[in-house]
Amino acid sequence: MTQDELKQAVARAALDYIKPKLYDNSVIGVGTGSTANYFIDYLAEIKADIFACVASSEASAQRLKSHGIPVYDLNSVDEVTFYIDGADESNPQLALIKGGGAALTREKIVAAVAREFICIADDSKWVKHLGNFPLPVEVIPMARSHVARELVKLGGDPIYREGVVTDNGNIILDIYNFIIPNPRQIEQDINNITGVVSNGLFALRPADVLLLGGKDGVKQIREG
Ligand code: 5RP
Repeated sequence: MTQDELKQAVARAALDYIKPKLYDNSVIGVGTGSTANYFIDYLAEIKADIFACVASSEASAQRLKSHGIPVYDLNSVDEVTFYIDGADESNPQLALIKGGGAALTREKIVAAVAREFICIADDSKWVKHLGNFPLPVEVIPMARSHVARELVKLGGDPIYREGVVTDNGNIILDIYNFIIPNPRQIEQDINNITGVVSNGLFALRPADVLLLGGKDGVKQIREG
């Protein structure tokens, strides 16, 4: 199977996972990226059964709307029943690196609100230790140099992602060559730098379940 076929398989598995658990007012949080896009396309098949979605990016909101799926502002819903999103890396604790698509802050907000966070990924994203994928950090533009200097002090090599402006009007620094021995601590340390909006480590709020696609099918993994 190609990587794209694996992404489709996990997106389909996510739909099968949530379908029996939906109730009348279910609000579905929808992530960003190519795997999440497949999920959006499958979600359209059951749009009559869901109350509404909230989206973690303008791009996903547009895709949902193009299928005729109602998209609500997060502030106007009482709860998010499920949040379904891809990842750039997952470790066995289901701590993630996300933000390859620069949507990390809104993704983190929706994940924080969600009752259940379902991560969907092909098995190229499965790692023992996080950090091979450069860690994205969303930064207020005027703080770019300051934050970069502080990230160097933490041991990484931050690189400005040229030409990218987030949905929140900020910039992204990607941290290369960064050893992440304790993801929860590093997540907090980076958040403590003045000028950082958020970072792509999802360790304080990891996924609840990972649907991981490989050559033997889709595995359902919980923290282990
Ligand atoms: C976007 C993300 C994506 O979930 C992550 O980059 C994975 O993307 P894809 O499904 O295209 O491999 O965090 O900000």
